[in-house]
Amino acid sequence: MNMNSTAKASVLSLGAAVFASLLLLPNVQGAEKPAAVDGKSVFETKCLKCHKPEKFKSQHNSRKDWELILSRMERNSCVLNDAEREAIADFLSKKYGE
Ligand code: HEC
Repeated sequence: MNMNSTAKASVLSLGAAVFASLLLLPNVQGAEKPAAVDGKSVFETKCLKCHKPEKFKSQHNSRKDWELILSRMERNSCVLNDAEREAIADFLSKKYGE
């Protein structure tokens, strides 16, 4: 170990920077959390790609039925992750519920 004091200082400040970013990281992720998936906008981007909005005006389905329709749409190559599927099911069963 023959570090001069400049090298020691830069190792120390690097360490401090890494430590600080580790402290900040959870806060950054925490800040993004409330912006959860918005059912309406996912519906508009994913579902209205293949369907006209009018199609949904005549639809009245329970949440369970919407979930079944969503899984059918996934077989029709509509790609949804768990959060998106949940958010769309919420949105549709409120707006186009029974
Ligand atoms: C890749 C194109 C495509 C996408 C994306 C898509 N659909 Fe469909 N959808 C279809 C096709 C094709 C049919 C007709 C065949 C069928 O009913 O499975 C259909 C039928 C439907 C029906 C009529 C079913 C019934 O029982 O009356 C509903 C409601 C529906 N889709 C809702 C959705 C919703 C909600 C989404 C978004 C999650 C979505 N679709 C995304 C292709 C798509």
